[in-house]
Amino acid sequence: MLNNFLKLWRGKGSGLPVTADEEALIASIDPARLPKHIAIIMDGNGRWAKKRGLPRALGHRAGVDALRNIVKLCRQLEIEYLTCYAFSTENWKRPPKEVTALMNLLVEFLQKEIDELCANYVRVSSIGRTEELPPAAQKALQMAVNKSSNNNGLILNLALNYGGRAELVEAVRQLAREVKQGLVDPEAIDENTIGRYLYTSELPDPDLLIRTSGDFRISNFLLWQLAYTEFWLTPVLWPDFKPLHLLNAIVDYQNRERRFGGIKDF
Ligand code: FPP
Repeated sequence: MLNNFLKLWRGKGSGLPVTADEEALIASIDPARLPKHIAIIMDGNGRWAKKRGLPRALGHRAGVDALRNIVKLCRQLEIEYLTCYAFSTENWKRPPKEVTALMNLLVEFLQKEIDELCANYVRVSSIGRTEELPPAAQKALQMAVNKSSNNNGLILNLALNYGGRAELVEAVRQLAREVKQGLVDPEAIDENTIGRYLYTSELPDPDLLIRTSGDFRISNFLLWQLAYTEFWLTPVLWPDFKPLHLLNAIVDYQNRERRFGGIKDF
């Protein structure tokens, strides 16, 4: 499967040659130990645009192109979950023009890509306060979620108006309500209970977090869920992030020793 996927993907018109480096990289991936859930902080669109003297919105548009290719690759690698940080609770602080451009891109992405996503068995889901998104974005998201709801391939989980702290606040509020109503015994609350009150209750924690563009921050992303996630950071700006980078991240991930706080030989 792995040996054929790049040729297959390129055969669909990406136009990129299969290099010897890529062949070697693919050959070194162990299909039995792929990360089940990959999370990505897609950072650097603004800097990518600035470097080219372009408006920031065009950086985000190039970011969508990068996302499209990464979704395809995840699908072909049979990764189960891909969570992408597309808009944070803090991103509203950006100039209204940029916020509007991002929302328009989201609508365009969902409307244009949904058929292709469905053809690839991708299921779209979201985390975050999506009820606060502009109506057109909510409508496009609902359409994509509904249309893809029976797909059993990759789950493309978009973090939209997402904040890790906001998520924890909502979880605590709901738990407190249920304690008050006598539905939950405070002494019975454990880590699994908390997990069930998060937006990600249906998802396993990410195995691998990728952050592009050289910053070393979590930026309020999946604060609870990243407790034992392996981080892979790169200076590459998100619009320049290519399948080859993802393959490198996966190879690197497979060379890590995940101990989850324990020790290896005990
Ligand atoms: C960070 O780059 C990126 C974002 C705030 C948005 C991420 C959005 C996309 C990749 C495209 C839209 C996604 C969808 C699903 C349509 P930045 O603007 O903070 O870059 P900078 O740090 O260089 O300024």
